Amino acid sequence: MGRSTSLIPEHVAVIMDGNGRWAEQKGRPRWMGHVAGARVVKDVVAHCARAGVEQLSLYAFSSDNWSRPPEEVAALLELFENQFREQADTLVAQGIRLSVIGRRTRLPLTLRRVIADVEARSGAGRAMHLRVALDYSSRAAIQGALPVHHAVAGLTKGTTILPPVDLLVRTGGERRLSDFLLWECAYAELLFLDVLWPDVTSTVLDGAFEEFAQRERRYGRVAARVSA
Ligand code: IPE
Ligand code: IPE
Ligand code: MG
Repeated sequence: MGRSTSLIPEHVAVIMDGNGRWAEQKGRPRWMGHVAGARVVKDVVAHCARAGVEQLSLYAFSSDNWSRPPEEVAALLELFENQFREQADTLVAQGIRLSVIGRRTRLPLTLRRVIADVEARSGAGRAMHLRVALDYSSRAAIQGALPVHHAVAGLTKGTTILPPVDLLVRTGGERRLSDFLLWECAYAELLFLDVLWPDVTSTVLDGAFEEFAQRERRYGRVAARVSA
């Protein structure tokens, strides 16, 4: 009823927000929230692949996140490196292709090497395409895609325009996109959840898919009606 698309969104994008507040609420340092968040990422990736999601795009570090305290930035970069290293085998075994999107040149060399390795090893995976956005800015990606900017490419290498997003989920209670996939979300269904990222469970995800299934996507057309 009132549904014009499939039950499971083909391309899911997630703004994984709320790690810092999760830790602060528990009287712990913010980096512990990021560690807890990373554990959830593994479960979410596996759950989405099982559910039949074809593309999953995760916002892990925005270009504006460089403005955070240096200790927090360092903790995040270290965490990314460890996670990619630890998860590479699992991703390959699950048939999940991993790509990192965003600007790569400002990332530490060791992290860049680990990324190149896991991208190469997982490249043939066909079960799901997982994209992790690091040093990502949607405005920079769009700018880099403009013909005039191709001449000075390299700066924005790796920042590409993705297929359209079907469902965008942001946890942590904020209702904004924070420079994530602005172009790709042109007709995305937006879902803002109050749950903090480290508290996300498969039940929360299934709830998001259920909500998506209830939405009627019209793309500017007139609503489909049940004829009387
Ligand atoms: C999201 O959680 C993770 C990153 C931005 C790297 P936050 O760290 O933004 O968590 P809050 O919003 O401060 O709770
Ligand atoms: C967006 O969250 C970036 C990521 C989740 C990686 P932020 O916490 O950085 O966004 P703002 O500052 O609330 O807009
Ligand atoms: Mg935040």
